[in-house]
Amino acid sequence: MRVITTVQEMQEIIQQVKAEKKSVGFVPTMGFLHEGHLTLLRNARKENDIVAMSIFVNPLQFGPNEDFATYPRDFERDRSLAEKENIDFLFYPSVAEMYPSEASISVIVKDRTDVLCGKSRPGHFDGVATVLTKLFNIMMPTRAYFGKKDAQQVAVIDSLIKDFNFPIKLIPVDIVREENGLAKSSRNVNLEPYEREQAAALYRSLQKARSAIEEGERDIPELKKIIETTILNESQGNIDYIEIYSYPELKPIDKASGSIIMAIAVKFSKVRLIDNIIMSVK
Ligand code: PAF
Repeated sequence: MRVITTVQEMQEIIQQVKAEKKSVGFVPTMGFLHEGHLTLLRNARKENDIVAMSIFVNPLQFGPNEDFATYPRDFERDRSLAEKENIDFLFYPSVAEMYPSEASISVIVKDRTDVLCGKSRPGHFDGVATVLTKLFNIMMPTRAYFGKKDAQQVAVIDSLIKDFNFPIKLIPVDIVREENGLAKSSRNVNLEPYEREQAAALYRSLQKARSAIEEGERDIPELKKIIETTILNESQGNIDYIEIYSYPELKPIDKASGSIIMAIAVKFSKVRLIDNIIMSVK
């Protein structure tokens, strides 16, 4: 595995790889790798000639009061985990390398940002779309892999790829969970031990709502109530949102029907967690 830190060297390598007609699987990350990232890398390894991962904590997608400074980072640990997954290139640019001067152009996401995380994180998806536009141009991937935990991000990236005609196949990958059901996240390290146990209530609440749907419940307020009651009874987390929308459109719905997402965000003392279930309802 080669670690590359400059845009120029990375582009030269990728251009060479593309000239050899090799497929490139790309896994963009912000590092502090967990089993979810490793699953993305393993899928990419199975489906491509070359696998590249980026590690870049992108300042553009953090708001002024968000956790950019405390976002967990451990490059040496990440490097050795990536090496074990037998990947070819690890792109690890600095902020100055990615943003050498103040940008004169940025990508603005117009749809699907006034809901879920977009609502409480203004500008977040513009930051994600801007950095991914740069990374897609640098890495020119055949396939790009993203976790379904960030389901709104997947929906936005789907639009980015389609709107800007990137010749890239988006591969959304299922959420990887800890034994108690907590969705794997780099931010989980910032949970207190008692919060880590309580945070399992997030997935339990979604599972209860899914069971209710399977038993015939279609009423949105009723389903939200099931989720809310479980979180409030089983954790001390503060609910940021509980929403049920059509997916991937992220539009409000009158009743649970068709492809839907049940999505939640809950704040614990130092960290805000998200989780979701996407399902098809007849
Ligand atoms: O999901 C993430 O880790 C980030 O939003 C991404 C896609 C790497 C862009 O910075």
